[in-house]
Amino acid sequence: MTGTTTAAAADETAPRDEDELRARQLDRLRWTLRHAYRNVPFYRAKFDAAGVHPDDCRELADLAKFPVTTKEDLRANYPFGMFAVPREQVSRVHASSGTTGQPTVVGYTRHDLDVWAEVVSRSLRAAGGRPGDLVHISYGYGLFTGGLGAHYGAERLGCTVVPASGGMTARQAQLIRDFRPDLIMVTPTYMLALVDELRRQGIDPRETGLRAGIFGAEPWTEEMRGELERSLDIDAVDIYGLSEVMGPGVAAEFAETKDGLHIWEDHFYPEVIDPVLGDPLPDGEPGELLFTSLTKEALPIIRYRTRDLTRLLPGTANPAMRRMERITGRSDDLIILRGVNVFPTQVEELVLRAEGLSPHFQITLSRQGRMDRMTITVEAAEDCTPGQRGAAPDSLARAVKDAIGITAEVVVADPGALERSVGKLRRVLDRRGA
Ligand code: DLL
Repeated sequence: MTGTTTAAAADETAPRDEDELRARQLDRLRWTLRHAYRNVPFYRAKFDAAGVHPDDCRELADLAKFPVTTKEDLRANYPFGMFAVPREQVSRVHASSGTTGQPTVVGYTRHDLDVWAEVVSRSLRAAGGRPGDLVHISYGYGLFTGGLGAHYGAERLGCTVVPASGGMTARQAQLIRDFRPDLIMVTPTYMLALVDELRRQGIDPRETGLRAGIFGAEPWTEEMRGELERSLDIDAVDIYGLSEVMGPGVAAEFAETKDGLHIWEDHFYPEVIDPVLGDPLPDGEPGELLFTSLTKEALPIIRYRTRDLTRLLPGTANPAMRRMERITGRSDDLIILRGVNVFPTQVEELVLRAEGLSPHFQITLSRQGRMDRMTITVEAAEDCTPGQRGAAPDSLARAVKDAIGITAEVVVADPGALERSVGKLRRVLDRRGA
């Protein structure tokens, strides 16, 4: 397994030390606030109502005086109301799927696309990527930011790109076998499906020649990292991002250190707030992550509430950009079962530690009378013995009770019984309203 030196992963455009970084951030923040206020009626109205003006931002901490922006704000300004430049200057749009309501639209100028390619290229270098590498991209291409975002970043680094997109799993496995990529960019759950398919085709996933996988777009755990690293003999690193802020490449992990995601702070300014009260929290405290874009032209975004839960950590790489811990989950994913708060990632940890079980599982919530119930359906591993299969439901249910404090029913299904994701997996089926 290979890494890269952390210094090599920071490019020439990134500030070298903390003072330079903070000064550049303040300049860019003041520009962003003015740009948003001047060109987006939504921001002007919101700042005016809150009694703040871009000139009130004299230091970085002043940002906390400005109002937050939410997904609902983007929805209310659908489709192009949040753009700060004439539509003709927008080179590309992306949009969320809109499964939970009105889609949200984001836009990029040529310069924005340039910055995006730059931060994804940095993320690839952090993962140990270098010019000349062959990169297989299985993030979906299209309105989703994953595929195209990863694509132009890999091209920027000087890689050979295989734009596989999501789906057609059998063909993807064949391409991986034949092309022998150095890096793969894909959601962790779709990687699991690709691993199964490689094995089905008689290919040992450890023999593909892959060095690293750059996994993101959905929450995953250290246990999943272990599973992916063992089954593929790679470095598995995390990449984070969201459409409203840019797409993939807002923060990324270094293969060398695997010590959390390094936020590309010269372009994205992070804050963490108390998710209920909205108060800013000091670095190190867990809460909801907010981002303010520092260089975006088409869609400046001020204090965007990501709903993702994490905490900020001091920087370790050069330059001193802060890190964030891997995302525990989104506040929207939080399951409240008979008064106990559970994130699907907590269940993932336990499923991956269980003997005889595969990493493929789904959580179903249902209601019996007034009681909420959780059922965890897990596929048996291919090499699961009858003894393991018999013992698994009780032992996993006990582990869930001990670690999380809830009673769940565990059903062990045959290998291949659960539907596979080709991108972001829907982990929880909530039938409580049914
Ligand atoms: O998922 C962008 C992306 C594509 C990131 C490919 C990484 C790789 P959206 O569809 O807007 O954009 O979804 C953003 O996905 O707020 C998180 O809840 C979740 N998410 C993204 N990356 C991670 C990660 C893309 N590494 C939402 N860990 C975010 C946990 C993640 N959750």
